[in-house]
Order: sequence, then structure tokens, then C-alpha cells
Amino acid sequence: MASSAMSDQLQGMVAAVTGAGRGIGRGIALVLASRGPAVSVSDIDSEAAASVAGEIEAAGGRAVASEVDVTDVGSIQTWADSTISELGKIDICVPNAGVIGAAKFNERKDYNSDDWRLTWGINVQGMVNTTDVIAPHMKERRSGKIVNIASHGGRAPRGVAEPGRGTVQIPYAVSKAAAIQFTHLLAIELGQYNINVNAVCPGRLWTPMWEAIALNHKALNPDLAELSAKEIFDRNIKATMPLGREQTPEDIGKAVAFLASEDAAQITGQALNVNGGAILN
Ligand SMILES: NC(=O)c1ccc[n+]([C@@H]2O[C@H](COP(=O)([O-])OP(=O)(O)OC[C@H]3O[C@@H](n4cnc5c(N)ncnc54)[C@H](O)[C@@H]3O)[C@@H](O)[C@H]2O)c1
Repeated sequence: MASSAMSDQLQGMVAAVTGAGRGIGRGIALVLASRGPAVSVSDIDSEAAASVAGEIEAAGGRAVASEVDVTDVGSIQTWADSTISELGKIDICVPNAGVIGAAKFNERKDYNSDDWRLTWGINVQGMVNTTDVIAPHMKERRSGKIVNIASHGGRAPRGVAEPGRGTVQIPYAVSKAAAIQFTHLLAIELGQYNINVNAVCPGRLWTPMWEAIALNHKALNPDLAELSAKEIFDRNIKATMPLGREQTPEDIGKAVAFLASEDAAQITGQALNVNGGAILN
């Protein structure tokens, strides 16, 4: 695959990405692979993971695919062990798997206990499970880059809550705030092992996740009844992003690649917004 000068730094590395069967995780896997690393692609959807690994291989990169449920520590351990045995090591760990909410999220104004259980279980505990399994390997090697995928929704209420909007997005935003704080705190502990821990906070991307949010806006706002989910998304982007355009999975992948590179050697414990300026720190 083609590579650029900056990303030659990533040559010879091995990256492990969760939730990489589609959307942002797929974009991260493809960008990393294009810059040198072999990629261990995992997802709860094994066919999707295999398809992304196939794309990487077809483009001349190296990839393996695994079915992994990040709520199941045993499944992450099996994946990490097989990645290390097949690819030799893990240099870059990207806990990306995430969910917006539980069943019928699209239709509800307010959260239920399943929204809390799922967003906490996957977005927070799943991230913790992934780093718990992979960090010991990095500690032993005294080298590693962990790049958590959080959200700018974990930083500020804009776009998540407004008077009368309902509470359905609150569990997700709280889980992402926890992901950011987990990133800060883990960085303090792992710095002594030469492990950098950072987060990328994506803004808004047209993936199945944001389609669910747009459908939720449509269900709750009669003014949006005539618009498609994509039109609602486009309006939201124009109204909220100073740069006036949505982010792509590749935009997020490029930020991950930077944080995984030696150019970012002195950056740890940070959460980097990649959001077109929609929410400022
Ligand atoms: N789309 C956005 O606008 C946006 C914005 C900010 C942050 N994010 C974050 O980016 C990440 C990816 O989001 P996306 O938009 O690509 O979502 P998506 O729904 O398109 O993809 C999520 C992927 O995670 C996988 N997954 C779900 N549960 C899993 C589990 N238990 N174990 C392993 N894999 C599982 C799914 O199968 C899917 O492939 C998430 O953490 C999300 O919160 C997305």
C-alpha cells in the first residue's frame, strides 16, 4: 500500500482495532494499514471484520480478522493471543467499538435502563477490558500506543441535550465523558512503561450510528417529518460545524495514525477533537 514520509514511522508496527468491521473502525484500520502496520481487525460481526481484512489485503497490506465481543474479556484475550502469535506483537491498540443506545433508540425521547447498561458495558467497560488485556503486553515490551475513540459529545452538552429535547442521548454522552477521563488517568499510570494513552473525539460522521441519531431527531420533531435522515444530518453539520463539513472515518484514522507515531511521542493523556470546530475545549 502507498505510504507517506510521516507515516513511514509506523512501518513494521502491528495495530489492533475493535469495532473495525464498519464505520469509523473500518476507516481507522484502512488508514493505519495504508501507512505500514499490519492490522488485526476485530468486530462482534465476524463477516464484517473479515471483509475489512480482505480489503486491506487486496490493497497490498497485511491483516487478520477476528470475532470479538468487547464485553467478554475471554474473547479479547483470545484475540490478543492470536494477534501476537500471528503478527508477533501489538504496538497500537485502538478501542473503538461503541453503541449509541439500546433497542428503539430511534423512537424514544428518554433513556431507559438498557441504554445505560449497553453504553456503559460497551463504550466504557469494553474499552477498559481491551486495554486491560493488551496493556500488560505493552508493559512487558516497554512500548505502546493506546488510542481510545471517545466523542466530542463526552466533552460538552451541545448537540446532546437542550431543554425539552429529552434524555435519550445522555447515557451515550456520559459513557464518552468516562472514556475521556479513563484516558487521562490511564496515561498517568502507563507513562512509566513508555506507553502513550490518548483519545480521539470524533464530531459527526455519517455512519449507522449517526443515522440512528438523525432518525431519533425526526421521530421527536414534527418540523423534520419531511426530511430524510441524511438531510437532517446535513442540516446539523451546516448549522454546527465551523468548517461546514462532516468528518470521514479516514479523518479519524489520520488522527489515530498521528497519535500512534513518534511525532506524537510527547503527547499523552490528551483527548483530541476531530470535529470541524463544532465543540471547542
Ligand atoms: N458516528 C459518529 O458521528 C461518532 C461521533 C463520535 C464518536 N463516535 C464513536 O466512534 C466509534 C465508532 O462509531 P461508528 O459511527 O463507526 O459506529 P457504527 O455503529 O457504525 O460501528 C460500530 C462498530 O462496533 C461494533 N460493535 C458493537 N458492539 C460491539 C461489541 N460488543 N464488541 C465488538 N464490536 C462491537 C459494531 O458491530 C460496528 O461494526 C464509537 O465508539 C462511537 O461512539 C462516532
